[in-house]
Amino acid sequence: MLTGGLETSASMIALGALVLMANPVMAEKMRAGEDVDAMVEELLRYLTVVQVAFPRVAVRDVRIGDADIRAGDVVMCSLSGADRDVQFGPDPHSIDPGRAANRSHVAFGYGIHRCIGAELARMELRIAYPALVRRFPAMKPAVPPAELKFRRASIVFGLDELPVDLGR
Ligand code: HEM
Repeated sequence: MLTGGLETSASMIALGALVLMANPVMAEKMRAGEDVDAMVEELLRYLTVVQVAFPRVAVRDVRIGDADIRAGDVVMCSLSGADRDVQFGPDPHSIDPGRAANRSHVAFGYGIHRCIGAELARMELRIAYPALVRRFPAMKPAVPPAELKFRRASIVFGLDELPVDLGR
């Protein structure tokens, strides 16, 4: 529970804060408490911090697209790849809280092993982002983008640190 529930939510909060600092319109809506749920879903889709689902083992032969998967094969699914699928609209690499389909993302995985803490995580994010931008409206990154330390060797995408200038 600690491993699954701490690094994931912490990464979402840090990376989401970075997105909000770069997107004043979204930050203003968060501050006003408008469309918070939709913005949280779009941040979950766009960031997909758990990039790969737990490995699955095929119980029977199956064909997906043009790939033949045999019973007993181990299948690794890229959640971040799935969440940038064109089903989300013409520009899945951009952040757009108005996306109609954004609730169908797989940031929490899929099926029997889908994240058990998904609803708790949603509650945390719906509280944390508005609270952060209300408490620190002038917050901005304290280092240039090139100096941000993104994690290179972790299954959970995130930042080692996010230096910020809290403003006045
Ligand atoms: C934004 C935050 C979170 C994200 C993005 C996230 C994402 C995920 C993903 C992708 C999986 C694997 C699903 C699969 O393979 O189909 C997973 C599993 C899991 N998560 Fe989360 N998670 C988050 C927060 C939490 C929290 C807050 C808790 C608990 C307090 C938690 C507990 C777990 C557990 C126990 C599993 C294993 C479930 C199983 O194997 O049946 N997660 N999570």
